[in-house]
Amino acid sequence: SARVPLVAGNWKMNFDHLEATYFVQKLAWLLRDAHFDYRHCEVALMPTFTSIRSVQVLVEADNLKIRYGAQAVSVTTQGAFTGDVSADMLSQLGCSYVIVGHSERRKYHPEDDANIVDQVRATLTAGMQPILCVGESSEEHRQGIELDFAVGQVHDVTRDLNEEEAARLIIAYEPVWAIGTGQVATPQSAQEASKAMRDDLRETFGPHVAQTVRVLYGGSVTSKNAMQMISQPDVDGFLVGGASLDAEEFARISRLTE
Ligand code: G3H
Repeated sequence: SARVPLVAGNWKMNFDHLEATYFVQKLAWLLRDAHFDYRHCEVALMPTFTSIRSVQVLVEADNLKIRYGAQAVSVTTQGAFTGDVSADMLSQLGCSYVIVGHSERRKYHPEDDANIVDQVRATLTAGMQPILCVGESSEEHRQGIELDFAVGQVHDVTRDLNEEEAARLIIAYEPVWAIGTGQVATPQSAQEASKAMRDDLRETFGPHVAQTVRVLYGGSVTSKNAMQMISQPDVDGFLVGGASLDAEEFARISRLTE
């Protein structure tokens, strides 16, 4: 497809700023050694807030092509919001992406649909790309309603966006039952879900948005299962959790997508 694949590592609450710096150096070195072509695949890391500045300094000093972003963002721009970090603060640090609505945030923080829409908007306004996470739990999976459920979660956000905003969205399809469990979705079901979302985008916004938006798969991705996934026409890359904590493994996954 014309879409450049994206391999994004979601570090969740792992690595302090020293470990983050060490990891980025190692990854850059592994990919350089493999003559990795960043024009054919974007590679991104999502550290904790406390590590982003260190990653930025290293990326700028060594002129690295590795991108980075945050795992969540405040819906407000500034002021008396203790513990929050604004989208402008993130874009000032050179962030390209913000993960929005990850199932762990939906579970452990009060992130409802309205809050998720506002995070998407804050991210877009600050010039970054949201990686919107959706996906069914084992309950919907058991009932066989996963497609409607995941498409509905995307629709809850896109109905508040215009065409130009929607075109800058990135979607991560992450079945909740596949996250951190070693139970990966089949390539066929990842393809079906990604296609259903793309069809919905086409219906709402037309062909340009449908062809532009990247749909990533997330949930127990490893270098062993990534190849079959990325061969699916509507799967445009990965949101990698556990396997993104090992530089060699993350480099292997990135290289499959190149
Ligand atoms: O954001 C990443 C997902 O939650 C996947 O995590 O690769 O450890 O299953 P995982």
